[in-house]
Amino acid sequence: MSSKVFVARNIPAAGLDRIRELTDCTVWPDRLPPSPGVLIENSIGCHGVLTLLSDRIDAAFFDAVGPQLKVISNFAVGYNNIDFEEATRRGIAVGNTPGVLTDSTADTALALLLAAARCVREGIENVSRREWLTWEPMGFIGQDLVGKTIGIVGMGRIGHATGKRLHFGWGMNVLYTSRTDKPDADNELGATRVSLEQLLAESDFVSVHTDLNPETTRMFGASEFAAMKSNAVFVNTARGGVVDEAALHSALTTGQIFAAGLDVTDPEPLTGDSPLRELANCVILPHIASGTVASRNAMAEIAADNLLAGLAGRPMRHQVNPL
Ligand code: NAP
Ligand code: GLV
Repeated sequence: MSSKVFVARNIPAAGLDRIRELTDCTVWPDRLPPSPGVLIENSIGCHGVLTLLSDRIDAAFFDAVGPQLKVISNFAVGYNNIDFEEATRRGIAVGNTPGVLTDSTADTALALLLAAARCVREGIENVSRREWLTWEPMGFIGQDLVGKTIGIVGMGRIGHATGKRLHFGWGMNVLYTSRTDKPDADNELGATRVSLEQLLAESDFVSVHTDLNPETTRMFGASEFAAMKSNAVFVNTARGGVVDEAALHSALTTGQIFAAGLDVTDPEPLTGDSPLRELANCVILPHIASGTVASRNAMAEIAADNLLAGLAGRPMRHQVNPL
């Protein structure tokens, strides 16, 4: 008898077709995520659940779904939506999709960095509002990239790929913070591991690439933005929870920093009255960094492989909690 599975959103056929073929699965058909209650309702009695980063998986979920649950396969590299320690205690395998979205996410960090540095939002809005008067020698003045300093917060896979683009593309000097030394970054990019304090004081661009964990939650608040250069551009493609939104808004409106580019916010989407969305010097994307054909197909393949391996009691391709 095949395993019962709930897939919490429509994902690319590259992974979904095999799940449909090999399991007794239900796929959530809507564009919006199931509410927590509906997620539980659909997962009761399931052996495996394929989740998205917007699905919260915690002890209450495990209690309600039942002891037959063997595997949670997250369609994302980040897994802060899952209480994986609780999963481990219960012997439930948790999988994620690292590596295959590294380049697409680093490219998005670059897109945001360039857009924020060169007043792209202001320019696009100027044109679309029919306010473009003439070539303005004093208008839309941005920041140069060549030879500047990039501060990478979290020198993991995506941090390294972002540093590489900026070092080899624009000759940037690379500083970084991480919990551990990164000899590959030091050797390949001439990068230097420094304290967060030094990184903020010396960087012209700051790009966040940490996972969201208790140490990185609200890592960027009023004092961190105050410590940055007034020409600094802040980029976040990691998780919105790393940033205190009110502090960022204040830094952007008082000239403490030059501009920001965000692919992620907290909450997502931004609340209707979030003042960030009004700022011309804040470029915001709707969490699209892994959104390329190749990345999303590869994520689907890995998520399916992880799910099917977990159901069979085999090691996953990428398991965050080896049991
Ligand atoms: P990764 O290779 O695990 O990199 C995360 C890095 O964060 C690690 O190098 C880790 O340092 C560092 N870190 C953790 N806590 C830290 C702290 N307190 N201070 C400084 N550095 C810290 O993961 P990745 O594949 O690059 O992905 C990173 C994150 O990006 C994911 O967790 C996800 O949240 C986010 N992401 C977002 C999108 C998107 O669509 N916007 C797409 C992909 C990923 P150590 O190595 O020293 O432990
Ligand atoms: C996207 O945000 C991911 O973590 O894969």
